[in-house]
Amino acid sequence: MSEETRDKDGVSRRDFLGLAAFGTAILGVVSSVAGSLRYIKANVYFEESKKFKVGTVENFPIGSVKKLDDKNVFIFSEEAGLFAISAICTHLGCIVSPVDFGFQCPCHGSQFNHIGNVIGGPAPRALEWFEISQEIDGSLAIDTAKTVSQGTKYLFA
Ligand code: FES
Repeated sequence: MSEETRDKDGVSRRDFLGLAAFGTAILGVVSSVAGSLRYIKANVYFEESKKFKVGTVENFPIGSVKKLDDKNVFIFSEEAGLFAISAICTHLGCIVSPVDFGFQCPCHGSQFNHIGNVIGGPAPRALEWFEISQEIDGSLAIDTAKTVSQGTKYLFA
């Protein structure tokens, strides 16, 4: 028959190991529950909408060109309607500037005509055109997530 070894407080080695195992088990359960709690909340990334309002048709008198600096979009107003062209160069993403013949990129010299077609430089394709739509409140909205084919214009009602 074996004798239990007890320290001066009377805790045996068996009791100590039992308590240690129990404590470890509790710690494991608490850790796994805490780890599981992060899955209760959906892992959603919030991204700013690429659709934004630009005001009413009256903000764009025929013949005007407006650049929305914070959105990198040019809005042209012509007799035939409104259209929106990206100011982001299709080469490496610099912001183009309006010039006599259309647009010029300051980074590597790409040139685009007045409707965004490449006429010089390394840019591989034309500037993008974006969808313009009318919202329920009557204001116009541009959606830079929706490209449209060149020549697509928002027609004045
Ligand atoms: S980024 Fe426009 S030409 Fe290179």
